[in-house]
Amino acid sequence: MSLLVITQIFYIAIALECNQTQYIKNGICIDCEKGCKKCENEIGCVSCEDKYYFLSNKCLKCDSHCTSTCEDGYGCRTCMPTYTEKNGKCIAPPCPFCAENSCNLTTCSLCIENYYVSKGKCVLCDKNCKNCDVDGCVECKLDYHVSNGRCQANTLASRDIVFISIGSLLGLVMCLCFMMIGISYIKNIFKRAFFHEA
Ligand SMILES: *[C@@H]1O[C@H](CO)[C@@H](O)[C@H](O)[C@H]1NC(C)=O
Ligand SMILES: *[C@@H]1O[C@H](CO)[C@@H](O)[C@H](O)[C@H]1NC(C)=O
Repeated sequence: MSLLVITQIFYIAIALECNQTQYIKNGICIDCEKGCKKCENEIGCVSCEDKYYFLSNKCLKCDSHCTSTCEDGYGCRTCMPTYTEKNGKCIAPPCPFCAENSCNLTTCSLCIENYYVSKGKCVLCDKNCKNCDVDGCVECKLDYHVSNGRCQANTLASRDIVFISIGSLLGLVMCLCFMMIGISYIKNIFKRAFFHEA
């Protein structure tokens, strides 16, 4: 066998060890470009990872403000409210998520639905909020309470802890009572059986 054949076999053996997200070059596994799920060689990708789209042999990250799945060969088609779609990307307005005519330079005074103003910016209402208005959350879902316009999980109140403690204590006392009754009953049976006491 010629040296060439031997090196070829060697390369192929190594190639089998390469990952799907790698390609082989001169017997070495090289990682595909970022966002690429499968690549054939250094020329480019064959398919992209989730949240990436294919454009000119590359995998580009889908815009984080995109509300659709990015389309191969183009990118994003629909963006979040107030954002403008341009060439597959989402362009941010001066005041993101701000209501119409409520933006002064970069300061918003009134936000679109489901957002509220905090220090001149629009903040998304808390996901645990039941009723959100211009100042933030006014009513939270069960087991949450309002704190600075957001919803915080309730912790056990000290009053609840007192009730739980009293309940446990009563349970324990009752348990002991039944145990003592049981023991004296068994004791009586033994006494009657072995000592023939009345
Ligand atoms: C393949 O990927 C795994 C995890 O992603 C990594 O641990 C392993 O080293 C890779 N194999 C090669 C040959 O690079
Ligand atoms: C915009 O904001 C600036 C600075 O806070 C203020 O001076 C100006 O009056 C505002 N303009 C409008 C139209 O509210």
